Amino acid sequence: MTKVFDVVVIGAGPAGYVAAIRAAQLGKTVACIDDWKNHDGSLSYGGTCLNAGCIPSKALLESSELVHRAKHEFAAHGIGTGSITVDLAKMQERKAAIVEQLTGGIASLLKANKITALQGRGRLLKDRKVEFTPHDGKAQMLSGKDVILASGSTPMELKQAPFDGKNTVDSWGALEFDAVPKRLGVIGGGVIGLELGSVWQRLGAEVVVLEAMDDFLFMIDRQIAKDTQRQFKRQGLDIRLGAKVSGAKTGKSGIKLQYADSKGEQEVEVDKVVVCVGRQPNSADLFDEACGVKTDARGFVEVDNECRTGVANVWAIGDLVRGPMLAHKGSEEGVMVADLIAGEFSEVNYNTIPSVIYTAPEIAWVGKTEEEVKKSGRAYKVGTFSFAANGRAKAMEMATGLVKIIAAKNDDEILGVHIAGPLAGELVAEAVLAMEFSASAEDLQRTIHGHPTLSEALHEAALAVDNRAIHAINK
Ligand code: FAD
Ligand code: NAI
Repeated sequence: MTKVFDVVVIGAGPAGYVAAIRAAQLGKTVACIDDWKNHDGSLSYGGTCLNAGCIPSKALLESSELVHRAKHEFAAHGIGTGSITVDLAKMQERKAAIVEQLTGGIASLLKANKITALQGRGRLLKDRKVEFTPHDGKAQMLSGKDVILASGSTPMELKQAPFDGKNTVDSWGALEFDAVPKRLGVIGGGVIGLELGSVWQRLGAEVVVLEAMDDFLFMIDRQIAKDTQRQFKRQGLDIRLGAKVSGAKTGKSGIKLQYADSKGEQEVEVDKVVVCVGRQPNSADLFDEACGVKTDARGFVEVDNECRTGVANVWAIGDLVRGPMLAHKGSEEGVMVADLIAGEFSEVNYNTIPSVIYTAPEIAWVGKTEEEVKKSGRAYKVGTFSFAANGRAKAMEMATGLVKIIAAKNDDEILGVHIAGPLAGELVAEAVLAMEFSASAEDLQRTIHGHPTLSEALHEAALAVDNRAIHAINK
């Protein structure tokens, strides 16, 4: 017998579970199917974000940053700590407890919203029928007046260094090491490479990052990239750019990573390898061809700005579709789609999605980089302010990095805000709000900021756009 719902969601990551909850709030009957299985065989909701991504990585980043601060910054405060010890098992237990609380919270939210939560695999068939196969049970048939595909993404594998689940691992494996590797090789110097490289470097590993591109963090503003690259180097992260990995050979003394760079063939020996060269959408076997959903050459489900797949009442959101692979981007798409299904107005402003890299310094940005603005041909002005002149950052012993604001010359509209420094991910929220309201640099200039706060750096950068910063020499 086919069970009929208003909405069937496939995937309970931050895209899918948010869509399910919003649809239930709007009075829809909802089923949400999710097949996540942890390494120990347990099942949980929340997808990559809660189980193997955002949350566990931030827990370890926080712990390892405290280790770093205790070792390198406490003395400046006049605090003597003796020798710092790390109990990795306890650190991992804390991480696991946070994950368990939050994933349990999602299960409770699904229940409280009267969503039929189903653990197993979902597959879309013709006419919005969905085949649900529990982890160890017989397939059942559901049907949705609307179906939302939210199956997320998985790490890409490198054929030159295939995963073995033990010594060459993906990001999930690298979040679960039970000992600090002596030498860690990171293939891919992107967001995951820098975050996880930082975690293990702070805990004592010698970390070498092999990045294929010649430019460090090629997607961010060049001025911020230059500033942060210098700081990572000072911390001891060995980042090798233009490094194209050709092979990995396991021997008695470790894994030899072979790569070519501008100087020729190179080799580096490590004990563990994390491969983080991007993620791919989970679209394989997600739907029957006959249902008409289309994917592009890289496997992303094709959608329009409103996440419509082109097949009536079938939607796709999150990492499964174009755009940045970020939890909050998927969640916003989930809300939008649920609203649209219920006949309400909704949209996602793709120009104001913030990005944050949770390293130290933290890197955060929204809008266009200076290079992108220059390329667009629009005349612009730039204001920067260094945290070295910010009282709160000084008091925190974290006075490195800068805020950079790019505004249009003609109407002063803020086009991009780029931050490297303490709590950049929190500070960028003000810039996102400003841009959401199409604010000008002058609007930020006239906004009163508390003193002493880190946000004063944003205020001063806005003032600097018009050469009227108070706590810096205007050029
Ligand atoms: P997922 O979270 O991948 O969820 C999809 C769910 O669908 C999974 O549970 C999966 O098992 C299930 N599924 C797949 N196929 C089926 C099927 N056929 N039937 C049933 N269920 C299915 N983003 C941020 O914004 N901030 C961060 O700090 C951040 N840190 C990250 C750190 C790491 C190490 C990683 C790997 C990622 C990080 N991300 C971060 C990215 C973020 O995790 C993803 O963008 C986000 O989880 C995508 O959400 P989603 O719901 O689209 O997919
Ligand atoms: P990424 O796209 O950020 O970085 C991958 C890097 O690997 C790139 O710099 C690329 O040039 C490099 N690369 C590709 N092939 C290579 C090769 N053969 N050899 C060496 N380098 C190679 O992807 P990553 O780090 O895997 O993360 C995936 C996604 O997860 C991110 O794009 C991001 O959207 C999301 N994420 C977000 C986080 C956050 O918001 N703080 C944290 C972690 C992940």
